Amino acid sequence: MSTNEEIIGRAEIDDLEAILAVSAADVDEAVRAVKDNADAIFTWDYEKGRRPALAKLYEKSKISMWNGETDLPWDTVVDQEQVARDNQALNGGLGDLDLSGTPFHNWKEKEWLQLGMEFQNWSLSQFMHGEQGALICTAKIVETVPWIDAKYYAATQVMDEARHVEVFAKYLDTKLNGHYPLNAHLGLLLDDIIEDSRWDMTYLGMQIMVEGLALAAFGFMHQMTTEPLLKKLLRYVMSDEARHVAFGVLSLKEYYSELSDAEMFERQEFAFEAAVRMRDRFIQQEVWERMGLNPREVIPLLIQNPNRLLFQQMLFTKIVPNCKKLGLLDRNDGWLRHKFEELGVIQFEDLTDTSDEYQAFALSDAELSGQVA
Ligand SMILES: [Fe+2]
Ligand SMILES: [Fe+2]
Repeated sequence: MSTNEEIIGRAEIDDLEAILAVSAADVDEAVRAVKDNADAIFTWDYEKGRRPALAKLYEKSKISMWNGETDLPWDTVVDQEQVARDNQALNGGLGDLDLSGTPFHNWKEKEWLQLGMEFQNWSLSQFMHGEQGALICTAKIVETVPWIDAKYYAATQVMDEARHVEVFAKYLDTKLNGHYPLNAHLGLLLDDIIEDSRWDMTYLGMQIMVEGLALAAFGFMHQMTTEPLLKKLLRYVMSDEARHVAFGVLSLKEYYSELSDAEMFERQEFAFEAAVRMRDRFIQQEVWERMGLNPREVIPLLIQNPNRLLFQQMLFTKIVPNCKKLGLLDRNDGWLRHKFEELGVIQFEDLTDTSDEYQAFALSDAELSGQVA
């Protein structure tokens, strides 16, 4: 059994110094090269529908395509300050914390508004980078998965992800006032996913972990935002993401039922590592630095805020039931179950898994034909 040190590079999950020591990506680089270490696999078994659930998902995907340029109301005027104000009213900023003697003691409305806008810039930037990760990972799945039904479906997901990168990039460029580079923790995770030679690890890292978290995070922002363009954009993206997570669950369910305990253990470790990386990213160290604050002084305050803890846990509402459905929680004496207990997220294990839930997220015919404003 590996130790935390070996899996995530530190003994204590909450070791703040070790988390902050992971530095941000080089902002000056124009491109980033990652070795993908995998063979491209041809299959000569062209029988369509050998895996009926994947074939059904593929057919659904073909009739669910939308157009990021024409289906979203890009003429909406976005008042970013007002959005920040609304968000603060809704999530309470730092809650009821007593801020005297903290780096925030002399903050006025101007600084709080700036922080709110930086959070938007940061969140949408990370969504955009994560979407590019999904684009690359799913193109890799087209090459590496040995089943024709999965290659077909993955090809439609590549198109979806191109559209997602496109709409988040356009939103950032035309509606917000700043960008952030790829978060270092998210970068570590994307590199690990892409570098792994085993085709199922791409699915586990991307479709189950990253997209499972994205689906929950988009859902939260969709519910919270008062900005109509972003609300609609997220609604459309989520209708695709729910299908992508289902693709992961349906593909891996079959494959994982045949794996040995030792092989499953490697998947359990990978899922744990991914969970920690994604949680680390939400301390948003770059935002605090851009606001001129020392993350070491700020983050211990944030950790005390119960709203923030709830938000962090909520990000795992899709991941945990899906891991359970795949048998990842309980194999090897419940190793991953214990890790999710340590992370404080095991309580979501019996929520609905995402293998069927995509139907509930689907766009209506009216939404797809652009009739709904
Ligand atoms: Fe996406
Ligand atoms: Fe996706």
